[in-house]
Amino acid sequence: MQHILQELEARRAAARLGGGERRIDAQHAKGKLTARERIEALLDEDSFEEFDMFVTHRCTDFGMEATRPPGDGVVTGWGTVNGRQVYVFAQDFTVLGGSVSATHAGKICKIMDMAIQNGAPVIGLNDSGGARIQEGVDSLAGYGEVFQRNIMASGVVPQISVIMGPCAGGAVYSPAMTDFIFMVRESSYMFVTGPDVVRTVTNEVVTAEELGGAQTHTSKSSVADAAFEDDIEALAEVRRLIDFLPLSNREKPPVRPFFDDPGRIEPSLDTLIPANPNAPYDMKELILKIADEGDFYEIQEAFARNIVTGFIRLEGSTVGVVANQPMVLAGCLDIDSARKAARFVRFCDAFDIPILTLVDVPGFLPGTGQEYGGVIKHGAKLLFAYGEATVPKVTVITRKAYGGAYVVMASKHLRGDISYAWPTSEVAVMGAKGAVEILYRSEAGDADRIAARTQDYEDRFANPFVAAERGFIDEVIQPRSTRRRVCRAFASLRNKTVKRPWKKHDNIPL
Ligand code: HXC
Repeated sequence: MQHILQELEARRAAARLGGGERRIDAQHAKGKLTARERIEALLDEDSFEEFDMFVTHRCTDFGMEATRPPGDGVVTGWGTVNGRQVYVFAQDFTVLGGSVSATHAGKICKIMDMAIQNGAPVIGLNDSGGARIQEGVDSLAGYGEVFQRNIMASGVVPQISVIMGPCAGGAVYSPAMTDFIFMVRESSYMFVTGPDVVRTVTNEVVTAEELGGAQTHTSKSSVADAAFEDDIEALAEVRRLIDFLPLSNREKPPVRPFFDDPGRIEPSLDTLIPANPNAPYDMKELILKIADEGDFYEIQEAFARNIVTGFIRLEGSTVGVVANQPMVLAGCLDIDSARKAARFVRFCDAFDIPILTLVDVPGFLPGTGQEYGGVIKHGAKLLFAYGEATVPKVTVITRKAYGGAYVVMASKHLRGDISYAWPTSEVAVMGAKGAVEILYRSEAGDADRIAARTQDYEDRFANPFVAAERGFIDEVIQPRSTRRRVCRAFASLRNKTVKRPWKKHDNIPL
């Protein structure tokens, strides 16, 4: 008996060693943790339950029968993050470069199936040389099976990808279909075709980091949602994100203990809006002052900074925030910000996370760049996302809410549940200057008359009361009491139910 137990331990030890000491040292030398070290950093202590430690590939081409490392280059299983269940896979670059064989993919599929069935998030730690070249189409078939599960899991359980090494070719499309992608600076990259192919085909000379590193994907392409300095920081931030999310679409977001008075008054907000209506201010200040304990988890911080998206808690419950940012492009909506916010709104709606929208928007950004780029279709994404969302929607207009952009930003007309406006709000079809230029074109040469007309327009329309008289605004509120009003608004919406006409699925303008 004893020798059987010892053999099990010996087999386990061999599997845990992955590709061996030399390759582990090489991994560390690149500033990267091993797959098992990453899982340890991600999960609660001693919570990891591993599956398929002894799975080996079945390939016999290219002499592969001589090399059958246990686990086949990916560590899979489940564990907990602050006591809540998650499924995880971590590709092991020390074993055949973390390359994906049919059996490697099968291990990932197994935990994805369990995650969907049992209602828990999937966290993928990606570090792989791609399709296992020796396996050819068997590897491609494996990828296809993972892709299909990404699609089936979408909207059922949260899916989070952390890119912690190479991720190239068609392999990028699994993370691309997950809800959030995190990257590690300098040690991870993602691209469909690498620098060599790019140079051959387009004559562009570019490094892997420039083409598909964390900086590129968080600020230029918006493929990734956040970038971190090293593995440990990235994994700690995944833990923080998990704390905001429900485990599946079958349950409500978690409620955490909170120590912040929901009725907290913030007198400083009364002076947040500058006297000059064209002067910027930082919308994040308002977000932090509304949130429980000032805790804000921002998503896509470095991309389309004219809109801010992320999670806060109110009375311990998760709320998604979408806010125009007057500090960048005056808070205009454009292609990038509409896409960014629309995807966030759809995530929140899929997982029953209420949405708080903070509005200061002078309109859509003009220009050929925007029109040629399809701002009509992209802007419609945000409009569509808000209108289809059935979660509680509370809106606070702080200053400008002009034209189409006013309607888009979770207005009552798109079934926003409760709309508040600060007294500094201007809910109008456009700003006074633009309106007067159109209405009184014939008086354009007379500066005094134009000034009087502008003043008249401002007096009559640059306020929240025209909209409030029509019930488009539910209440004009004191800035200082925003947290209290918003907390009470969401509390009143906890049992909201909405009926929609039957459909197979919608046809959001992609
Ligand atoms: C089999 C692979 C492999 C792969 C790496 N290895 N990639 N084995 N299939 N795809 C092995 C190497 O042979 C090596 O084995 C070990 O992993 C480490 O690789 P190194 O090259 O020494 O590491 P490094 O210098 O850090 O370079 C990493 C790398 C490079 C840039 C990822 O290995 C590389 O270019 N690999 C090939 C990438 C590729 O073309 N993949 C297929 C893409 S097509 P030893 O025994 O020496 O340690 C694809 C399609 C997916 O992925 C489609 C989905 C639908």
